[in-house]
Amino acid sequence: MDKLVIEGGAPLKGEVEISGSKNASLPIMAATILTNDKCVITNVPNLKDIDTMIKLLNFMGLKVYKEKDRVIKEKGACTRYVSPYEIVSTMRASICVLGPLLAKKGEVKVSFPGGCIIGPRPIDLHLKGLRALGADIKIKEGDIIARAKRLKGAHIYLGGHFGSSVLATANVMSAAVLADGETIIHNAACEPEVTDLANFLIKMGANIEGHSTPTIKINGVKSLHGAECRVIPDRIEVGTYMIAAAITNGNLLIKNAKTGHIMAIMDKMREANCLVQREEPGVRVKRNRKEIRPVAVTTLQYPGFPTDMQAQIMSLMCIADGISVVTEKIYPERFIHVSELSRMGANIFLEGPNAIITGVKSLSGANVMASDLRASAALVLAGLVAKGKTTVHRIYHLDRGYENIEIKLSKVGAKVKRVRE
Ligand code: EPZ
Repeated sequence: MDKLVIEGGAPLKGEVEISGSKNASLPIMAATILTNDKCVITNVPNLKDIDTMIKLLNFMGLKVYKEKDRVIKEKGACTRYVSPYEIVSTMRASICVLGPLLAKKGEVKVSFPGGCIIGPRPIDLHLKGLRALGADIKIKEGDIIARAKRLKGAHIYLGGHFGSSVLATANVMSAAVLADGETIIHNAACEPEVTDLANFLIKMGANIEGHSTPTIKINGVKSLHGAECRVIPDRIEVGTYMIAAAITNGNLLIKNAKTGHIMAIMDKMREANCLVQREEPGVRVKRNRKEIRPVAVTTLQYPGFPTDMQAQIMSLMCIADGISVVTEKIYPERFIHVSELSRMGANIFLEGPNAIITGVKSLSGANVMASDLRASAALVLAGLVAKGKTTVHRIYHLDRGYENIEIKLSKVGAKVKRVRE
């Protein structure tokens, strides 16, 4: 397994090119199940999770492959309607195939995804939505077995204890496009990744309105055809490099950033004393003053502050001039990075879903363990500003979500190298 060795202290300066969004690519790739025609998806990042989705789609009998940043699904239909444990257990997003397979084939067996390091990850909303469309769903021997001769449009309220769900909205929307009649998803997720999927489905011939709002209206069609699309830039990668600029007292132009997707991040960073300005073709970030000002951050569904940026902003707050509070409202247990940041000298106190962070003058390099994707990114960010050497072990999580991270960081002046353990 690889590790990253970082010598902290170098201010990052220059330009970083942002890749396509992983979390937009995955449901779009799954949606290609809905047509027998060829589909081409561009701006897909080169990441482990993308490879896993390709493997899954091929396992199901499709012919899918990647050429540079393009994923191509050749003409043809699924021949197996199964998503095995071995694949689902390595990537929760494989649940994305549930809706499309059910709509296209009327039956599907997907291994039940477990919880993960960021806390429980229930799928009750996915099942509720698909049941409302008329699917008969059973859980048997660890598998979700879903059947439906023909799905029927329905009114579905898709909110749960923690609000809307991104992938449940994606699954239900992808199923409803081939259902009979009208479906209205109430409390739908408004994340840009859901909008990107809706736009792809529309290109395939689906009839969808209201995507990007909490009420999505879908009128089922008989069949969908092939389509091409370009995936949106990864807003979480953008946010991560914004923090990299701020934490190192650097100055980065983050290219391809869609500022409309990162308003909450820009707002908090400005509050923290950073200069954040739109600059075609992206966003420039540097510090306004020497000190980072402490802020209160609460993660919320889009357009609120994203949970996928919680760990990274916490790293920034570790060196702020005062006390910050970070409240996690989406995954209340998503604090696995706290103990590792503490190893680097951070002063963080956890009280339920709140992290109270007292800024320190400096962090010190240490051996730390990457545990999940965004926690890993937070450790890299802390390593960039820490005094001395930080070794981030088990970075395969990082490779699931950040394309060429050590190359991109090195280009703008970071002293970072990948080492095989
Ligand atoms: C997506 O996961 C992302 N994954 C996650 O990114 C991201 O953290 C999350 O959305 C929230 O933005 C992909 O897009 C592949 P949710 P998803 O359903 O859709 C609860 C990353 O680091 N819930 O929107 O699975 C859930 O427990 C990852 O890239 C239910 O209660 O998340 C959470 O509290 C990790 N029942 C809240 O809803 C359900 O059936 C939002 O989760 C489903 C979810």
